[in-house]
Amino acid sequence: MEEAMSVYITTPIYYVNDLPHIGHACTTVCADVLARYHRLFCKKVHFLTGTDEHGQKVQQSARLRGTTPEVLCDETSAAFRSLWKRLDISQDDFIRTTEPRHTDGVTRALDALYASGDIYKGEYHGAYCTPCERFIGGDTEDSPCPDRGRAVQAITEPAWFFRQSRYQEWLVDHIEQHPDFVIPSARREELLGFLRRPLTDLCISRPKSRVSWGVELPFDPEFTCYVWVDALLNYITAVGYDTDLPRLREWWPAHHVLAKDIITTHGVYWPILLKALGYAVPKTLVVHGWLLSRDSKVSKSRGNAVDPIKLCDTHGVEAVRYYLAAEFPFKQDVSFSEESLVRRYNTDLANNIGNLASRVGSLIRKRCDGLIPEHSGLQEEDRVLRDAVRASADTVRRHIECWRVEGAVAEITGISSRCNRYLETTAPWKLPDTRKGSVRTREIVRAAGESLRIIAGLLHPVLPKKSSLIRTALGLCGDAPEWGELSRWDVLQPGTRVVDPGPVFPRITRGGEFVDQGWGI
Ligand code: MSP
Repeated sequence: MEEAMSVYITTPIYYVNDLPHIGHACTTVCADVLARYHRLFCKKVHFLTGTDEHGQKVQQSARLRGTTPEVLCDETSAAFRSLWKRLDISQDDFIRTTEPRHTDGVTRALDALYASGDIYKGEYHGAYCTPCERFIGGDTEDSPCPDRGRAVQAITEPAWFFRQSRYQEWLVDHIEQHPDFVIPSARREELLGFLRRPLTDLCISRPKSRVSWGVELPFDPEFTCYVWVDALLNYITAVGYDTDLPRLREWWPAHHVLAKDIITTHGVYWPILLKALGYAVPKTLVVHGWLLSRDSKVSKSRGNAVDPIKLCDTHGVEAVRYYLAAEFPFKQDVSFSEESLVRRYNTDLANNIGNLASRVGSLIRKRCDGLIPEHSGLQEEDRVLRDAVRASADTVRRHIECWRVEGAVAEITGISSRCNRYLETTAPWKLPDTRKGSVRTREIVRAAGESLRIIAGLLHPVLPKKSSLIRTALGLCGDAPEWGELSRWDVLQPGTRVVDPGPVFPRITRGGEFVDQGWGI
């Protein structure tokens, strides 16, 4: 039994001014897949997601819709939660920044920063990006927001500042000495590039007259806290910041999964805030690219949002999970289209893994009386297959340990193709039904069955339901497998009657109808 190491994985907390779309689902599904893999590797996992509910944008959206921020937050936060339920997300906690456990923590963090002399009052004069809720360096209205490319406004107002500039050198050293702090490495270079310019101090307040929907500054009731400072703190208020030290110690520091649009806030503001508060910085920022639709980032404001619920209704939850994991935009942006989802599903699941499952099922039915064949001697070609399948489990693990969800999925489909080739080469269906012929057939079927068992187990974090369906059909228990089982051979119980799982990955045809592919048992 491996030592149970704690792994804390988070998604960004999403804004509640708009409904969730496929871009949010991309991060959350991939973080869920990572969390489930780490559980499979016997780690103790805490997986957190939630909603970011304060700030000017929410205040404005509520006004525009003729409702209150409270109602808007309740409604949209519930929509995120129900989408995560639909997508089978296994979060251990869902935090809302309007909950007292969070707002109390923010107040205490602000008090601590004030007491340590890291906060001072001044006047802010500069360009402000309302959609990002962020002051932009420089004081011109001409240049657009660097993160999202939108127009900015000029603003002058009294404000409270956080002395982040004094931590710049420390942060650069930290990033240089910890190559895994930001991955992939191109994003780390981007961040270091940003840090080559001198950092200005961070404006952490908003006048209440402009933004009343926020946490009040404990040392100046005329102001509310800048929403990004408020939001970033969720990662520690959710696990006991300042209220439950043993709990915080158990989980913190975290691995944060996020997209490139919020790398500065997570790679600069957040580690510096933590340092100033006396806490360790995050272990990893897993910074992925975007899902694009019609060549631009999927987002509500660009009007190209794709509704994940509709996709689930049309293609099934696990087809959507599979697509997002297989196409995880780890290094590059990925263009989303419904056709590419169907293509992925048909190529990898219906034609490859589904085909392997139905071949194994029908061989067991036709050539082994519907029973798992007994342990048998392995010939050279079987040994080669066994070693490749076991090595594949290790490769999947290595990919996940480097946060490469798409790499892990490609490895699984790769090994499944290999098993299909093994069946085509050994062609057990062509062997004669004589005693000698059927002994060899059963050896081959057993080897293919063991491979299918391991492949289905490796797929469990991505497709929990379909994986369980295949494993139950092979006479195993339907729960998540144990990691140790996936590196062993000869686990299937000889003599167990297999059960027809029905169509596991029915092909999606043009008309959207499914073609049946059961085991015919
Ligand atoms: N509330 C802040 C985050 C605070 S975290 C302390 C925020 N919210 S957001 O609703 O705009 O979500 C941004 C995140 O959603 C991205 O970083 C990414 O994880 C996910 N995505 C939103 N659109 C996306 C794509 N089109 N493609 C991939 N991920 C996308 O920023």
